[in-house]
Amino acid sequence: MVDYSLLAGQAAGLLSGEPDPLANLANFAAFVFSELPEINWAGFYFARSNGDLVLGPFAGRPACTRLPMGRGVCGAASTSMATLVVDDVDAFADHIVCDSASRSEMVVPIVADGRAVAVFDIDAPMLARFDAADKAGIEALVAIVAPFAVRLADVLAVPATTR
Ligand code: SME
Repeated sequence: MVDYSLLAGQAAGLLSGEPDPLANLANFAAFVFSELPEINWAGFYFARSNGDLVLGPFAGRPACTRLPMGRGVCGAASTSMATLVVDDVDAFADHIVCDSASRSEMVVPIVADGRAVAVFDIDAPMLARFDAADKAGIEALVAIVAPFAVRLADVLAVPATTR
């Protein structure tokens, strides 16, 4: 049984004292990946100006770099702006396979100004890995890191030529 309130305290500590969003998102992904049992990937995708979700900081095997707008479990969670838990990815018609070892998946959108600026995606190598307690606990963890994701989304939205 995962103690999500303990993990929330640890995550808050991990992110305190460092304002850089990229550094904190990278450490958050590594933290979730190393602390949650039975998962094989954890990381962020960021919504870019054309609507695609592009790979951000993550831990696990190399993953799909670009998910077309609205596609996949990530795109569905982004469009609905609600957490999506998929117990069997093979039963989700629009699932995008990045690692054939993944069997279930959970995606938490990060919403600012009425739109999903990013998602946090976790994959598991077993069916139905994420129950109601995991959903609530992981949503609480994502709420801690969300301000940094919103800040990185702001940075990514600035045209490179003006930076
Ligand atoms: N399976 C996801 C794609 C991202 S990877 O799992 C890391 C999806 O269907 O959106």
